[in-house]
Amino acid sequence: MAAFTLSPATSSQLRSGNNGPFLPAQGLMAKSAAKSQMVGRERGMKVTCQAASIPADNVPDMEKRKLMNLLLLGAIGLPTAGMLYPYTYFLVPPGSGGGGGGTPAKDALGNDIIAAEWIKTHGPGDRTLTQGLKGDPTYLVVENDKTLATYGINAVCTHLGCVVPWNKAENKFMCPCHGSQYNNQGKVVRGPAPLSLALAHADVSLDDGKVVFVPWTETDFRTGDAPWWS
Ligand code: FES
Repeated sequence: MAAFTLSPATSSQLRSGNNGPFLPAQGLMAKSAAKSQMVGRERGMKVTCQAASIPADNVPDMEKRKLMNLLLLGAIGLPTAGMLYPYTYFLVPPGSGGGGGGTPAKDALGNDIIAAEWIKTHGPGDRTLTQGLKGDPTYLVVENDKTLATYGINAVCTHLGCVVPWNKAENKFMCPCHGSQYNNQGKVVRGPAPLSLALAHADVSLDDGKVVFVPWTETDFRTGDAPWWS
């Protein structure tokens, strides 16, 4: 806040100063001061300008200012968040299978698999390819008692990566590329494949009954070894 007071000027105050070398900044000040003094001379008054600081908690309309700042923040933040969401959604791959998360199993048409419906249409001993973790072809297994197995079998051959078909007559997975064979649980029984087929948990969601593949990080129940794929 600035306060202006008028008071009669003394002769020394009205006299021009000669107190040292002239500087450009002083020129501006002197010009302004001279103007004030001229007005003062004309009126015989001295013009004094005083500035006083205002306490922070005593700023006029502070509450309105805070409210306006919040409204401004919301007006900018909401559209920005709305624009960032699609980019984030695009950059984070869905169902990457990492971090212990699950991936819904999908059938050949790309539809989520409902466990109860799958059991109705797939008989005991069935092994049918579905889309599993990271998009890998994964066999969903129906046990002989017509329940869904709690594990899925990754169909990628551990030799050179061919997709291994299920041979129902032989009760084995038999790779057409170089002749590797795996038993009906995917354990390797003939080379050149060096390892058994990878496993994934096949869980059934309690919410909607969908089959969900979850990474298998525990011991391989077929070999008793640590899982080579995790
Ligand atoms: S890729 Fe399967 S045996 Fe070679």
